[in-house]
Amino acid sequence: MKVLAVVSIKGGVGKTASAVNLAYEASRTGARVLVWDLDAQGSATYLLRVRQRLAGGGAHGLVAAGGELGRHVRATTHPGLHVLPGDLSLRFLDRELDAAGKPRRRVGALLRPLRASYDLAVIDCPPGASLAIESVLRAADALLVPVVPTTLAMRTLEQFEHIVATRRRPPTLLAHVSMLDRRKTLQRRTVEELAARPGTLATVVPNASVVERMGPERAPVAVFAPRSVAAAAYERLWQELAVQLWP
Ligand SMILES: Nc1ncnc2c1ncn2[C@@H]1O[C@H](COP(=O)(O)OP(=O)(O)OP(=O)(O)O)[C@@H](O)[C@H]1O
Ligand SMILES: [Mg+2]
Repeated sequence: MKVLAVVSIKGGVGKTASAVNLAYEASRTGARVLVWDLDAQGSATYLLRVRQRLAGGGAHGLVAAGGELGRHVRATTHPGLHVLPGDLSLRFLDRELDAAGKPRRRVGALLRPLRASYDLAVIDCPPGASLAIESVLRAADALLVPVVPTTLAMRTLEQFEHIVATRRRPPTLLAHVSMLDRRKTLQRRTVEELAARPGTLATVVPNASVVERMGPERAPVAVFAPRSVAAAAYERLWQELAVQLWP
């Protein structure tokens, strides 16, 4: 099983949109995919039409479960795509990780019993660089950072790169342009800057209202708008990522 974490210090950049659409694309190729919604907002869970509730003691039960992560997993309406739901109790995740001991190893340890059941785990991270994120960095094979092409986002990406680079065994750090508004000159220029960096994927996800429609539709874009530019972008993005994950 490969672990892909969709992660960013910044909020609202398209992490959940990428996590859900990419997980769906992976499942369409026949892979067995688990989306782990690690965000208290439970947005990925919501978009995949799964009840936002962690059975048995919320975040506490999740972390203390010690190898029983599987009992929280729910099937979605999409074949081969399962969800480990997120709920509000995850706002205490850092505290629970700390209390359980060895917090930086915990996410990887919790995933271990599921490794035989899935080909891919996609972790939808909350924004920030918390202890939980540190634990994700350790468990992940690759990190995907959606970047809205602005100056401040570039700086934040550099900060995140610094955090990742200081690790003993850093996971592969990949970035993709998210929510590009081509009418904006500064955004186009920033995309060029981003493209020149190693680790930036070629596929650009444009700012498109069809992605926002995932909310009311509660489905990946390709389900309700298969011919849209955004659906094609996520499909290509997944193809690029698959090469990185299984070289
Ligand atoms: N490519 C896009 N074009 C237009 N809107 C988008 C796009 N991607 C995401 N959005 C919208 O932007 C908002 C934030 O997206 P999303 O929830 O995926 O970001 P996030 O990084 O997961 O946010 P958070 O940090 O809160 O978890 C949502 O309303 C979503 O519908
Ligand atoms: Mg999110």
